[in-house]
Amino acid sequence: MIIMIIIIIIIIIISSSSSSSSSSSSSIIINFVVIIILIIIINFIVIIIIIIIIIIIIIVIIIVLLFLFINIEIPHGSLVGVVGLVGSGKSSLLSAILGEMDRLQGTVQTSGSVAYVPQSPWIQNCSLRQNILFGTSLNHKKYNKVIQACALTKDLEGLAGGHDAEIGEKGVNLSGGQKQRVSVARAVYSAADVHIMDDPLSAVDAKVGKHIFKHVLSDKGLLRNKTRIISTHAVHWLPLMDKIIVMEQGRIAEFGSYLELMRRVGTFTSFLQTNLRYALETSEDDEDADLEIIVVVVVVVVVVVVVVVVVVVVRVVVVVVVVVVVVVVVVAAATTAAAVALV
Ligand SMILES: Nc1ncnc2c1ncn2[C@@H]1O[C@H](COP(=O)(O)OP(=O)(O)O)[C@@H](O)[C@H]1O
Ligand SMILES: [Mg+2]
Repeated sequence: MIIMIIIIIIIIIISSSSSSSSSSSSSIIINFVVIIILIIIINFIVIIIIIIIIIIIIIVIIIVLLFLFINIEIPHGSLVGVVGLVGSGKSSLLSAILGEMDRLQGTVQTSGSVAYVPQSPWIQNCSLRQNILFGTSLNHKKYNKVIQACALTKDLEGLAGGHDAEIGEKGVNLSGGQKQRVSVARAVYSAADVHIMDDPLSAVDAKVGKHIFKHVLSDKGLLRNKTRIISTHAVHWLPLMDKIIVMEQGRIAEFGSYLELMRRVGTFTSFLQTNLRYALETSEDDEDADLEIIVVVVVVVVVVVVVVVVVVVVRVVVVVVVVVVVVVVVVAAATTAAAVALV
């Protein structure tokens, strides 16, 4: 800015001295007006550029804050357990991840294909094999592996018609545990990237549950390379989960590995100890976390607005000073030119 003022003064002095030879004070006035207009235009452009830069900075800060305050982030290929009391919102959370539940706030992002095993398994009125293939082509090796991993081999031996047995309302009615395993087998066969299972082991006995966990869900199972989000009541599986989401009163109360949650002594430990008590401290912590986000965003916006105002005011003051300086110099030059002309 100082360099600009010096250049302008030099231009005025040169133009006034050259115009003095032609004894024309009107050309000085024209130069003066042109320079003033140039200064105003340049400053106007600079102010707009500064405002655009500051708006971009605000947007970047808000985006960064949003990413920093994501409630949960599930890495690809991890095994995540969802636990909580009955009615705490486990199924609702899974529905929200699937996009089947209207969200009041927040966003959910999933990558890749998703397979869902609902809490109440459903069966189509067709053969057992067709129920598992679910419209996809048959790959014998993969199909047999899925049947074995889902502990369906023995059930098939006792089923008249075997794989081709008609099941569902028009055929053989399967037990709750068998329906659940067919439902899990359908998801496993689909080989989707993300598997969301709502209490998939609730209707099977401990031995079968152990078999399915080992051969399907665990890090040695068929889904070892897939993202697995599984709500469960079976707390003995939790130490084997990569992360655990603890639900309480329709909210995510805690999120972390088994050891992290055990160290925290919060909702999770209460849940493990009694399965019945509600620990309210964690939800209060969550409200505090929400408040922190709002405070940080407000502080950032206020600081940025103050900076914008200061920058604009400073530039306006500088423009006024420059204009005054230019006026003084031009008047002095014009007076000198008039005096020279008179002489
Ligand atoms: N975040 C939430 N928003 C709205 N309704 C919820 C929420 N969490 C749970 N609910 C309601 O609470 C009830 C029980 O929730 P549910 O997800 O079935 O619990 P869980 O699977 O843990 O037993 C359902 O009727 C559901 O609509
Ligand atoms: Mg449920």
